[in-house]
Amino acid sequence: MKTVGVFDSGVGGLSVLRALLVELPDTRFVYLADNAFAPYGERSAAEVSQRSHRITGYLREVHAIDALVVACNTATALAVDSLRKTHPDLPIIGVEPALKPAVSLSRSGRIGVLATRGTLDSARFALLRERQASQAKGPLHFISQPCDGLAAAIERDDEDAIRALCERYILSLCKAAGSELDTVVLGCTHYPFAMSTLALLCGPTVTLVDTAVPVARRTREVLGAMTASPDAPALPPVLLATRDPQGLAHAVHRWLGLGVTAQLAQP
Ligand code: DGL
Repeated sequence: MKTVGVFDSGVGGLSVLRALLVELPDTRFVYLADNAFAPYGERSAAEVSQRSHRITGYLREVHAIDALVVACNTATALAVDSLRKTHPDLPIIGVEPALKPAVSLSRSGRIGVLATRGTLDSARFALLRERQASQAKGPLHFISQPCDGLAAAIERDDEDAIRALCERYILSLCKAAGSELDTVVLGCTHYPFAMSTLALLCGPTVTLVDTAVPVARRTREVLGAMTASPDAPALPPVLLATRDPQGLAHAVHRWLGLGVTAQLAQP
Protein backbone atom coordinates (compact mmCIF):
# COMPACT_ATOMS: atom_id res chain seq x y z
CA MET A 1 0.00 0.00 0.00
CA LYS A 2 1.22 3.50 -0.86
CA THR A 3 1.68 6.25 1.74
CA VAL A 4 1.08 9.82 0.59
CA GLY A 5 2.01 12.87 2.66
CA VAL A 6 -0.26 15.91 2.43
CA PHE A 7 0.48 19.25 4.07
CA ASP A 8 -0.92 22.74 4.42
CA SER A 9 -0.54 25.61 6.86
CA GLY A 10 -3.64 24.31 8.65
CA VAL A 11 -7.11 22.98 7.86
CA GLY A 12 -7.26 24.28 4.26
CA GLY A 13 -5.61 21.21 2.78
CA LEU A 14 -8.50 19.14 4.16
CA SER A 15 -10.48 20.33 1.12
CA VAL A 16 -7.87 18.49 -0.98
CA LEU A 17 -7.67 15.50 1.40
CA ARG A 18 -11.46 15.10 1.09
CA ALA A 19 -11.10 14.61 -2.69
CA LEU A 20 -8.00 12.40 -2.27
CA LEU A 21 -9.88 10.02 0.04
CA VAL A 22 -12.58 9.58 -2.61
CA GLU A 23 -10.12 9.16 -5.47
CA LEU A 24 -7.60 6.92 -3.64
CA PRO A 25 -9.47 5.07 -0.86
CA ASP A 26 -6.83 2.35 -0.58
CA THR A 27 -3.98 4.80 0.07
CA ARG A 28 -2.60 5.69 3.49
CA PHE A 29 -2.63 9.49 3.83
CA VAL A 30 -0.54 11.31 6.42
CA TYR A 31 -1.94 14.85 6.76
CA LEU A 32 0.18 17.50 8.47
CA ALA A 33 -1.31 20.87 9.45
CA ASP A 34 1.49 23.35 10.15
CA ASN A 35 -0.85 25.47 12.24
CA ALA A 36 1.91 26.68 14.58
CA PHE A 37 3.15 28.67 11.56
CA ALA A 38 -0.22 29.57 9.94
CA PRO A 39 -1.10 31.58 8.01
CA TYR A 40 1.54 31.06 5.32
CA GLY A 41 0.00 33.66 3.02
CA GLU A 42 1.31 36.61 4.99
CA ARG A 43 4.78 35.13 5.74
CA SER A 44 7.94 35.74 3.72
CA ALA A 45 8.82 33.46 0.82
CA ALA A 46 11.92 32.30 2.74
CA GLU A 47 9.86 31.26 5.79
CA VAL A 48 7.28 29.35 3.72
CA SER A 49 10.04 27.60 1.80
CA GLN A 50 11.90 26.68 5.00
CA ARG A 51 8.75 25.21 6.59
CA SER A 52 7.92 23.29 3.40
CA HIS A 53 11.41 21.74 3.34
CA ARG A 54 11.32 20.79 7.02
CA ILE A 55 7.89 19.17 6.68
CA THR A 56 8.84 17.25 3.55
CA GLY A 57 12.04 15.96 5.19
CA TYR A 58 10.07 14.94 8.29
CA LEU A 59 7.32 13.15 6.30
CA ARG A 60 9.97 11.22 4.38
CA GLU A 61 12.08 10.26 7.39
CA VAL A 62 9.38 9.51 9.93
CA HIS A 63 6.45 8.39 7.75
CA ALA A 64 8.29 6.98 4.70
CA ILE A 65 5.97 8.67 2.22
CA ASP A 66 5.94 7.49 -1.42
CA ALA A 67 4.57 10.80 -2.75
CA LEU A 68 3.73 14.28 -1.48
CA VAL A 69 0.75 16.54 -2.13
CA VAL A 70 1.48 20.18 -1.32
CA ALA A 71 -2.15 21.01 -0.49
CA CYS A 72 -1.45 24.71 -0.25
CA ASN A 73 -1.32 27.23 -3.09
CA THR A 74 1.07 29.48 -1.18
CA ALA A 75 3.60 26.71 -0.44
CA THR A 76 3.31 25.46 -4.03
CA ALA A 77 3.94 28.97 -5.39
CA LEU A 78 6.92 29.59 -3.13
CA ALA A 79 8.53 26.19 -2.63
CA VAL A 80 7.48 23.44 -5.04
CA ASP A 81 10.36 24.01 -7.48
CA SER A 82 13.03 23.81 -4.78
CA LEU A 83 11.28 20.83 -3.12
CA ARG A 84 11.44 18.97 -6.45
CA LYS A 85 15.15 19.84 -6.78
CA THR A 86 15.93 18.60 -3.27
CA HIS A 87 13.81 15.43 -3.62
CA PRO A 88 14.12 14.38 -7.28
CA ASP A 89 13.06 10.80 -6.44
CA LEU A 90 9.82 11.84 -4.70
CA PRO A 91 6.70 12.48 -6.80
CA ILE A 92 5.40 15.91 -5.69
CA ILE A 93 1.97 17.21 -6.68
CA GLY A 94 1.28 20.90 -6.13
CA VAL A 95 -1.90 22.98 -6.03
CA GLU A 96 -2.25 26.06 -8.21
CA PRO A 97 -5.11 28.52 -8.79
CA ALA A 98 -7.31 26.92 -11.47
CA LEU A 99 -6.87 29.59 -14.16
CA LYS A 100 -7.06 27.18 -17.08
CA PRO A 101 -10.39 25.57 -16.07
CA ALA A 102 -11.72 29.07 -15.32
CA VAL A 103 -10.83 30.27 -18.83
CA SER A 104 -12.76 27.42 -20.38
CA LEU A 105 -15.78 28.09 -18.13
CA SER A 106 -15.92 31.87 -18.51
CA ARG A 107 -18.00 33.43 -21.28
CA SER A 108 -16.95 37.02 -20.61
CA GLY A 109 -13.22 36.37 -20.02
CA ARG A 110 -13.43 38.43 -16.80
CA ILE A 111 -12.16 36.11 -14.09
CA GLY A 112 -11.61 36.89 -10.42
CA VAL A 113 -8.85 35.15 -8.43
CA LEU A 114 -9.11 35.00 -4.65
CA ALA A 115 -5.84 33.93 -3.03
CA THR A 116 -3.26 34.84 -0.42
CA ARG A 117 -0.84 37.70 -1.00
CA GLY A 118 2.02 35.15 -1.07
CA THR A 119 0.44 33.32 -4.00
CA LEU A 120 -0.63 36.40 -5.96
CA ASP A 121 2.77 38.12 -5.58
CA SER A 122 4.75 35.03 -6.62
CA ALA A 123 6.71 34.65 -9.85
CA ARG A 124 4.99 31.29 -10.40
CA PHE A 125 1.54 32.92 -10.41
CA ALA A 126 2.75 35.63 -12.84
CA LEU A 127 3.92 32.87 -15.18
CA LEU A 128 0.63 31.00 -14.86
CA ARG A 129 -1.27 34.17 -15.81
CA GLU A 130 1.02 34.89 -18.74
CA ARG A 131 0.67 31.35 -20.06
CA GLN A 132 -3.13 31.63 -20.04
CA ALA A 133 -3.05 35.09 -21.62
CA SER A 134 -0.77 33.92 -24.44
CA GLN A 135 -3.08 30.99 -25.26
CA ALA A 136 -6.33 32.96 -25.00
CA LYS A 137 -8.60 33.02 -28.03
CA GLY A 138 -10.59 36.06 -26.92
CA PRO A 139 -10.21 38.97 -24.48
CA LEU A 140 -9.08 37.79 -21.07
CA HIS A 141 -8.83 39.74 -17.86
CA PHE A 142 -7.77 38.25 -14.50
CA ILE A 143 -8.65 40.36 -11.48
CA SER A 144 -6.57 39.34 -8.44
CA GLN A 145 -7.98 39.87 -4.98
CA PRO A 146 -5.66 39.19 -2.02
CA CYS A 147 -7.71 38.01 0.95
CA ASP A 148 -5.61 38.93 4.02
CA GLY A 149 -6.94 37.33 7.17
CA LEU A 150 -9.48 35.03 5.52
CA ALA A 151 -7.47 31.79 5.85
CA ALA A 152 -6.75 32.70 9.50
CA ALA A 153 -10.47 33.31 10.18
CA ILE A 154 -11.32 29.93 8.62
CA GLU A 155 -8.57 28.39 10.74
CA ARG A 156 -10.19 29.87 13.89
CA ASP A 157 -13.67 28.89 12.60
CA ASP A 158 -14.73 32.48 13.32
CA GLU A 159 -18.00 32.78 11.39
CA ASP A 160 -18.48 36.53 11.90
CA ALA A 161 -14.97 37.32 10.68
CA ILE A 162 -15.36 34.93 7.71
CA ARG A 163 -18.59 36.65 6.64
CA ALA A 164 -17.18 40.17 7.10
CA LEU A 165 -13.98 39.40 5.17
CA CYS A 166 -15.82 37.61 2.34
CA GLU A 167 -18.16 40.61 2.02
CA ARG A 168 -15.23 43.02 1.89
CA TYR A 169 -13.26 41.03 -0.70
CA ILE A 170 -16.16 40.12 -2.99
CA LEU A 171 -17.34 43.74 -2.97
CA SER A 172 -13.85 44.92 -3.89
CA LEU A 173 -13.51 42.23 -6.59
CA CYS A 174 -16.89 43.08 -8.13
CA LYS A 175 -16.02 46.77 -8.15
CA ALA A 176 -12.75 46.10 -9.96
CA ALA A 177 -14.16 43.48 -12.34
CA GLY A 178 -17.47 45.08 -13.33
CA SER A 179 -20.76 43.38 -14.06
CA GLU A 180 -19.30 40.92 -16.58
CA LEU A 181 -17.45 38.94 -13.89
CA ASP A 182 -18.74 35.39 -14.32
CA THR A 183 -16.03 33.14 -12.85
CA VAL A 184 -14.12 33.27 -9.56
CA VAL A 185 -11.15 31.01 -8.81
CA LEU A 186 -10.67 29.89 -5.20
CA GLY A 187 -6.88 30.09 -5.20
CA CYS A 188 -6.39 29.03 -1.58
CA THR A 189 -7.32 25.61 -0.22
CA HIS A 190 -8.95 27.19 2.84
CA TYR A 191 -11.59 29.04 0.80
CA PRO A 192 -13.80 26.04 -0.17
CA PHE A 193 -14.72 26.02 3.54
CA ALA A 194 -16.29 29.47 3.00
CA MET A 195 -17.94 28.32 -0.24
CA SER A 196 -21.58 28.87 0.80
CA THR A 197 -20.86 32.44 2.00
CA LEU A 198 -18.85 33.23 -1.15
CA ALA A 199 -21.50 31.73 -3.45
CA LEU A 200 -24.25 33.76 -1.78
CA LEU A 201 -22.26 36.99 -2.12
CA CYS A 202 -21.26 36.33 -5.76
CA GLY A 203 -24.76 35.43 -6.84
CA PRO A 204 -26.06 32.72 -9.18
CA THR A 205 -24.43 34.09 -12.36
CA VAL A 206 -20.90 33.54 -11.05
CA THR A 207 -19.20 30.11 -11.10
CA LEU A 208 -16.72 29.36 -8.30
CA VAL A 209 -13.82 27.13 -9.31
CA ASP A 210 -11.90 24.94 -6.88
CA THR A 211 -8.97 22.59 -7.60
CA ALA A 212 -9.40 19.70 -5.15
CA VAL A 213 -10.86 17.12 -7.56
CA PRO A 214 -8.37 17.71 -10.43
CA VAL A 215 -5.49 17.54 -7.92
CA ALA A 216 -6.77 14.24 -6.54
CA ARG A 217 -7.09 12.83 -10.09
CA ARG A 218 -3.59 13.98 -10.92
CA THR A 219 -2.29 12.28 -7.75
CA ARG A 220 -3.93 9.03 -8.83
CA GLU A 221 -2.30 9.31 -12.27
CA VAL A 222 1.10 10.00 -10.70
CA LEU A 223 0.76 6.99 -8.40
CA GLY A 224 -0.38 4.87 -11.33
CA ALA A 225 -3.31 3.72 -9.19
CA MET A 226 -6.45 2.13 -10.54
CA THR A 227 -9.75 4.03 -10.46
CA ALA A 228 -11.51 3.41 -7.15
CA SER A 229 -14.80 1.57 -7.10
CA PRO A 230 -17.39 4.18 -6.11
CA ASP A 231 -18.34 2.55 -2.79
CA ALA A 232 -14.83 1.60 -1.62
CA PRO A 233 -14.43 2.70 2.03
CA ALA A 234 -11.44 5.01 2.54
CA LEU A 235 -8.70 4.24 5.06
CA PRO A 236 -8.73 6.74 7.94
CA PRO A 237 -5.91 9.27 7.49
CA VAL A 238 -3.08 9.81 9.98
CA LEU A 239 -3.52 13.35 11.34
CA LEU A 240 -0.66 15.52 12.59
CA ALA A 241 -0.58 19.15 13.69
CA THR A 242 2.26 21.38 14.85
CA ARG A 243 -0.08 22.82 17.52
CA ASP A 244 -3.59 22.09 18.83
CA PRO A 245 -4.11 18.58 17.37
CA GLN A 246 -7.63 18.53 18.86
CA GLY A 247 -8.53 21.52 16.68
CA LEU A 248 -7.45 19.58 13.60
CA ALA A 249 -9.39 16.46 14.67
CA HIS A 250 -12.46 18.67 15.22
CA ALA A 251 -12.13 20.17 11.70
CA VAL A 252 -11.74 16.69 10.18
CA HIS A 253 -14.90 15.60 11.95
CA ARG A 254 -16.78 18.68 10.81
CA TRP A 255 -15.63 18.80 7.18
CA LEU A 256 -14.87 15.17 6.37
CA GLY A 257 -17.26 13.44 8.77
CA LEU A 258 -14.43 11.29 10.17
CA GLY A 259 -13.76 10.57 13.83
CA VAL A 260 -9.94 10.33 13.92
CA THR A 261 -7.62 11.55 16.66
CA ALA A 262 -4.69 13.80 15.77
CA GLN A 263 -1.15 13.85 17.19
CA LEU A 264 1.29 16.66 17.82
CA ALA A 265 4.23 16.67 15.39
CA GLN A 266 7.31 18.88 15.51
CA PRO A 267 9.16 18.81 12.19
N1 DGL B 1 -4.28 27.09 2.38
C1 DGL B 1 -3.15 27.79 1.92
C2 DGL B 1 -3.22 28.17 0.47
O1 DGL B 1 -3.80 27.42 -0.30
C3 DGL B 1 -2.50 28.79 2.85
C4 DGL B 1 -3.34 29.80 3.51
C5 DGL B 1 -2.50 30.53 4.53
O2 DGL B 1 -1.95 29.86 5.40
O3 DGL B 1 -2.36 31.75 4.40
O4 DGL B 1 -2.69 29.15 0.04
